[in-house]
Amino acid sequence: MKTHEIRERFTQHFVSRGHEAVPSASLILDDPNLLFVNAGMVPFKPYFLGQQNPPFPNGTATSIQKCVRTLDIEEVGITTRHNTFFQMAGNFSFGQYFKEGAITHAWELLTNSVADGGLGLDPQRLWVTVYLDDDEAADIWHEKIGVPRERIQRLGMEDNYWSMGVPGPCGPCSEIYYDRGPEYGADGGPIADDNRYMEIWNLVFMQNERGEGTGKGNFEILGPLPKKNIDTGMGVERVACLLQGVDNVYETDLLRPVIDTAQELTGARYGEGAPDEDNIRFRVIADHSRTGMMLILDGVTPSNEGRGYILRRLLRRIIRSAKLLGATGATMERFMNTIMDTMTPSYPEIAQNRERILRVALNEEKAFLKTLESGTRLFDEAVEEIKAHSRAKTAKVLSGEKAFELHDTYGFPIDLTLEMASEAGLEVDMEGFDAAMGEQRRRAKADNQAKKHGHADLSLYREWVDEHPTVFTGYEELRSDARVIGLVRDGQKVSEVAEGEEVEVILDQSPLYAESGGQVADRGRLVAGETLLEVNDVQKIGKKLWVHKATVTAGGVDLGHTVSAEVDQQWRHGAVQAHSATHLIHAALRQVLGPTAVQAGSLNRPGYLRFDFNYTEQLTPQQLQEIAAITNQAVDANFAVNTIETSLDEAKAMGAMALFGENYGSQVRVVEMGGPFSIELCGGTHVGSTAQIGPVSVLGESSVGSGARRIEAYSGLEAFRYFSKETALIEGVSRELKVQTEDLPGRIAAMAEKLRAAEKEIETLRKAQLMAKSAEFLGGATQVNGFRVLTVRLPKGTSGGDLRTLATDLRNRAKDEATVIILAAQAGDKLPFIVAATDLAIARGVKSGDIVKRYGEVVDGKGGGKPDMAQGSGSRPEAAEQGFEALKTYLETL
Ligand code: ALA
Repeated sequence: MKTHEIRERFTQHFVSRGHEAVPSASLILDDPNLLFVNAGMVPFKPYFLGQQNPPFPNGTATSIQKCVRTLDIEEVGITTRHNTFFQMAGNFSFGQYFKEGAITHAWELLTNSVADGGLGLDPQRLWVTVYLDDDEAADIWHEKIGVPRERIQRLGMEDNYWSMGVPGPCGPCSEIYYDRGPEYGADGGPIADDNRYMEIWNLVFMQNERGEGTGKGNFEILGPLPKKNIDTGMGVERVACLLQGVDNVYETDLLRPVIDTAQELTGARYGEGAPDEDNIRFRVIADHSRTGMMLILDGVTPSNEGRGYILRRLLRRIIRSAKLLGATGATMERFMNTIMDTMTPSYPEIAQNRERILRVALNEEKAFLKTLESGTRLFDEAVEEIKAHSRAKTAKVLSGEKAFELHDTYGFPIDLTLEMASEAGLEVDMEGFDAAMGEQRRRAKADNQAKKHGHADLSLYREWVDEHPTVFTGYEELRSDARVIGLVRDGQKVSEVAEGEEVEVILDQSPLYAESGGQVADRGRLVAGETLLEVNDVQKIGKKLWVHKATVTAGGVDLGHTVSAEVDQQWRHGAVQAHSATHLIHAALRQVLGPTAVQAGSLNRPGYLRFDFNYTEQLTPQQLQEIAAITNQAVDANFAVNTIETSLDEAKAMGAMALFGENYGSQVRVVEMGGPFSIELCGGTHVGSTAQIGPVSVLGESSVGSGARRIEAYSGLEAFRYFSKETALIEGVSRELKVQTEDLPGRIAAMAEKLRAAEKEIETLRKAQLMAKSAEFLGGATQVNGFRVLTVRLPKGTSGGDLRTLATDLRNRAKDEATVIILAAQAGDKLPFIVAATDLAIARGVKSGDIVKRYGEVVDGKGGGKPDMAQGSGSRPEAAEQGFEALKTYLETL
């Protein structure tokens, strides 16, 4: 049975039992805890937790969810059942049926005959497990379903208690296994051998909520969920593997064609009799091609961190595996085309994205092949060096630094280096490599901290962070009375500061915005009577404590004093304009480029903004113009800007865009402009309505590292200044050229064309003039030892090309005699020169190359060529004549 049919039967089975069929969510959901959706229940989380009511008429649903799990990427191809991408078919009950319903539904689908809409598995081969003390489930299996007690086994937390691995819903579970027969392993059921007994379906009795913790068994149960729910997950590819009678999940109908393509491209063979490591490589190619393709489909692009890094790693593993199997050139296009063909029937949206998917994958392949080439060269050199210098009997070791350089500069995963080293009969100093990696990590970390806080020692602030988190009043007011609760000078706590000092001030509350979310810190002042502190930066520590960096310009402050903290209003106004403009540009960008253009970072300071996003292609001028137009239309619409404090889930339900990787608290702030036009999670300060942003001028876009691009713009008055400057510039040019501004492009093009023609003509004339001198030059030849010798200094600016043309011409004209020609010109402080000899001169032993050498000795230069013509350059132009004389002396000796 084809995989596609298994999917359809599953859905049909549950729809006919009253479940609402829900389409798969994207692999990338805005869940700060999850890199990728890793289970069918993820999109349903708010319903399990009771945060939202499930919108399904019967309180039940079914889905076939795309999932990616990359934790055990090294296992791929080694075990028979680990796919990094897989499809989880599930049925969900929110407070409706519980254990008995879930067990019965699953059993019927698995064991009903194919004619009856089931999957037709032999009930005698099915085993089940239940959680240790779950007698209820065990009894249902035995009494209701008829599974003999000896095929019902009990397992603990590790295996039969399911959670997402992070705080959220959880509960005991019951798993269904299929016995593949003694040729796959030992007797004794799933507790004895999980290869022979393959897990195909997990029924989770979702009834509790878990807290923080690690691993599968080590977390706290916070308490029961509002209702008892069911979450199940059937592994579609595993069932396909069984029903198609193949050995492993990589050989099912969706992946096997990729293995076949790989055989064709590499010339290696897959299957029984082939070396194990080759078979694994084939499976890696099949598995990763699909995962890579599906990730790109959902908008991931290769990069060096987060999701992008996982994609990069997958794609690179494909390329490397193909190479190790013997592929010599590019392979990605064929792999991608093959997997897109097999997956499209289940995911028709692939059809509209084929070109984009190919482009992303091929770009990465191109980049990696280049890296691989230069890295391999470095590796080969290192190997030669080692072999040349180590004695025959001792172990040959590639140093940790080399391995690190390969990793750091050439993007070689360490396992690639290990593999290549072992092929070359080398060991790798792993300790040295780990040390270098550790050192790099330590440096990066120290760097980041230093960047954020100016110094790495945060313990100084610990007490304030814990006991006096700053209250931010700056959403509502630009001036607040505040008490000085901390003073720091030169990294030390002090109780007073005086005029002229650079200090850090901690206040109980502050209206000054601390740098975060891309928005720069407010400038401002702390004032008390005669005392004045100019605040030039505000940084947050531990997200809670505002540290004001200030210069005491008059008076002094003691701990406990009250000051008036005042925001520089103009500065704030500019920053706010830029920040709100960024939201508009983000929204416009997604309208124009689609949802795959995901924000990667931003900077908003008065008058200027930049916005980085993940996207692999350069934007066209039209796209950029469209983005600018939509942004300015949104300004013109004067949308009200609303901020809402709510829960993270509520915010997501509103469609708020969150920045992946940000760690949002449970209460979040949503900034909304123009209803659905722009909704973002954001703690920044904003304009009251969009018209206050003023004009936004998009300056352009550029690339910032692989897979990311940057848009820059001016906002508010700065945009106006930019427009005025541009306008003045254009008007100046138009006055100068005496044409209307709209005729400028045509006029300039015409002028450039004319200029090119004129330059060409001048060049022709100059050459002709030079040639015309040929005869004159020849007339000036002298006789030396039967040679006709022609030495000429040409004017400055004569090019190397000119020299050659002239020498060729002279040599031709003088070919009836034994003639030697030497021409020298001057370019800067160099003396380019050329020597030519006719055949008759050559017959008498003249070699132009020899003469160049001799001349070079005099004028301090070098060169070379053939006997009939040779060229060189000297660095002592003043010795040109002296060289000519030396040449004549030399000719006397021939
Ligand atoms: N959520 C359960 C799993 O992923 C069904 O195994």
